[in-house]
Amino acid sequence: MKILITGGAGYIGSHTIIEILENTDWEVISIDNFSNSSEQNYDRIQQITGKKIKHYAIDLKDLAATETVFSENPDIIGVIHFAAHKAVGESVEQPLMYYDNNLNSLKNILTCQEKYKVPYLIFSSSCSIYGNVAELPVTEKSAIAKAESPYAYTKIIGETMINDMSMISDTLKAISLRYFNPVGAHPSGLIGELSIHKPNNLVPFITQTAIGKQESLTVFGKNYDTRDGTCIRDYIHVSDIANAHILALQHLIINNKNLPHDIINVGTGVGSTVLEVINAFEKVSNEKLNYTIGNKRAGDVGAIFANNEKAKQLLNWEPKRNIDDMMSSAWKWEKHLSLTMNEQS
Ligand code: UD1
Repeated sequence: MKILITGGAGYIGSHTIIEILENTDWEVISIDNFSNSSEQNYDRIQQITGKKIKHYAIDLKDLAATETVFSENPDIIGVIHFAAHKAVGESVEQPLMYYDNNLNSLKNILTCQEKYKVPYLIFSSSCSIYGNVAELPVTEKSAIAKAESPYAYTKIIGETMINDMSMISDTLKAISLRYFNPVGAHPSGLIGELSIHKPNNLVPFITQTAIGKQESLTVFGKNYDTRDGTCIRDYIHVSDIANAHILALQHLIINNKNLPHDIINVGTGVGSTVLEVINAFEKVSNEKLNYTIGNKRAGDVGAIFANNEKAKQLLNWEPKRNIDDMMSSAWKWEKHLSLTMNEQS
């Protein structure tokens, strides 16, 4: 069974390839244009799994190039589509880059799936599409509020495109996985989130501050209506997210007469405040983190965490790693990165 992974050199894509190679007999091919990832990740995947994967350095906005992958691999039966820009703040500053990249890539994938009759699609969606929610935890039936960022809006439109296509396609069966906050790294410490630019997300900023790449972390706001005044998020280990993709694809294959497009939350169901995350990091790393309290960040919602019953019931999925595992693996990865950078310099 051959699966195409787009964004396979990226953060969640690379962890998903490892889970697939270690737990299934599926063959994987990958497309990545390395816009926010490194080709070295394929070597690291090989180092961890002992398996080499076929990959293409292609920009998915290029339909003709994308199509060559489908024509050269007529036995692809499913696509896991990760490739997208994903920084909320950047999307506010450069909305057209987000609409162009995230929507045209998906349009081209759907075009090729339709033309080459590739039935299964797992799409990376995001909890950001729930916006400022009235009731917690959020279920898949919670109302989609106004998108707080172009990034979130590309995910709303992406899900809509898939939905509309699944209505007219004879073959397409899809699941959109709405991730909450993916963090952590592979336990080997060889692979993790690579922040080519200054990180926007909390956990890479914490580990970079602890290692000395950043001077200090700013906690964005301390007067939210939460137990310690800082924002609450549902942090989830990237390998647990990776595993959800395998189960979702298996579910589509086995139950392919069901709904043509389904939507599933992927979160732990547990919310942590920013200060709780910092405390967990300090505990597992034995490092004292340099941080200050700053202003709220534009576009941030106060609290969000998942109701994950649907993933548990439908996919038999269960998150296995807790916040300590997330922090210790992220820290191991950061230390590995600084070691390899020192060796190179
Ligand atoms: C958002 C989306 C998530 C998406 C992710 C992609 C929401 C609710 N979530 O995550 O679906 O996948 O972007 O990047 O919209 N923080 C600090 N200091 C920092 C950085 C962050 O205090 O230097 C705080 C933020 O205010 C927030 C929390 O840490 O409360 C997590 O922030 P971040 O890691 O950026 O993720 P989200 O914005 O929640």
